[in-house]
Amino acid sequence: MKHKLILIGCGGMAQSHAVRLSALGDRLEVGAVVDLLPEKAQAVSDLLENHPPVFTDYHDALEYGDVVLQCLPHHLHASCTIDCLNAGKHVLAEKPLANTKEECLAMMEAAKRNNRILMVAYCMRFHPLVREMRRLIKEKVYGECFQLSIWTEQLTIKEDIPWVHDRKLLGGGQLFSHGCHYIDLMLWMLGKPLRGTHVSSKKCTPWMDREGTSNVCMEFANGTLGYHFGTWGARGTRLKYSFHAHCEKGMIEFSRPENRLYLHGNIKEHIPDAPEDCKEYILIDGAAAGPEKSTAEEMAHFLDCVDSGRQPETSPEESLAGLEVIWELYQAEEENRIADLAKIPMPDSFN
Ligand SMILES: NC(=O)c1ccc[n+]([C@@H]2O[C@H](COP(=O)([O-])OP(=O)(O)OC[C@H]3O[C@@H](n4cnc5c(N)ncnc54)[C@H](O)[C@@H]3O)[C@@H](O)[C@H]2O)c1
Repeated sequence: MKHKLILIGCGGMAQSHAVRLSALGDRLEVGAVVDLLPEKAQAVSDLLENHPPVFTDYHDALEYGDVVLQCLPHHLHASCTIDCLNAGKHVLAEKPLANTKEECLAMMEAAKRNNRILMVAYCMRFHPLVREMRRLIKEKVYGECFQLSIWTEQLTIKEDIPWVHDRKLLGGGQLFSHGCHYIDLMLWMLGKPLRGTHVSSKKCTPWMDREGTSNVCMEFANGTLGYHFGTWGARGTRLKYSFHAHCEKGMIEFSRPENRLYLHGNIKEHIPDAPEDCKEYILIDGAAAGPEKSTAEEMAHFLDCVDSGRQPETSPEESLAGLEVIWELYQAEEENRIADLAKIPMPDSFN
């Protein structure tokens, strides 16, 4: 069955999705695009080959499709997603799921009651090199992983998009809005966290109401440590987005700017063909593919789940667990204590 998609919210992320939807042309067509500002909806419609009709109120667009891609500001995620689920649509909802636990639970309840798929758009989970890095860690190909570090360095000043600066509308700061991807990846790769710290700052990111720069340290039940540094204030960067997994027998590096997965260290033992003095080996060169977001792979997974009734890999349960980690990290930071992450229930899929 070819699905018809209703795209709700036509800002930056929707445009990023729209240009990659053509890769799924045999499975999906956009039936309607919606934005409060008609010129934004029109701009996205113009990007699409079939120029779908434009609406300013999503309620009027619901008859134009069976699946929804919800790309709204965070404070609107819950109400719109619940309306769409109640109208019988399957929903791929942009991250983070919602700004409060109550809203997240209400969304999950609506999906269950209406027997519809609700998937969270954590596109990093569908990046082929990130998936391979996780497999190498999980299968202990280079022995036990004892430290996973994730850097994200970018300059995000959205002067024309005020909701992004407001902690109430955004749901927090840089960690909640962007770091949620990487907390989710750490849980997915390393399992249950026990304790952690978040130390953050607004320094040099005065446009942010809450933090613009985050440093997160976590200890996991398997003994591995996780570290995440994320900033929206980088005026320059070499690392951009980089992941380093230090393991017993080598270090695995995902370099997002190069789109490559490297192995550093004891290479000859694992890659017999490697030159004698090789210290850095390109395990997979995805450079030709470019630094694209894996939104087409993400959408394909969503459609697979809609077609089969299977629960998505980036389920709302997993997403809520990651957000609960962030909320406890925020709370502990305010109270000047170490966050108790052991008390947060983790779905079986993370264990
Ligand atoms: N996965 C990623 O890599 C990634 C990257 C950026 C943003 N996002 C997520 O995408 C979502 C949207 O972010 P964005 O950067 O595109 O924001 P944005 O502000 O650029 O776009 C949001 C759009 O929603 C519209 N809108 C607001 N209220 C509306 C309503 N009631 N009905 C219809 N339209 C309405 C606005 O006019 C705007 O065009 C957020 O959840 C964000 O976290 C994800």
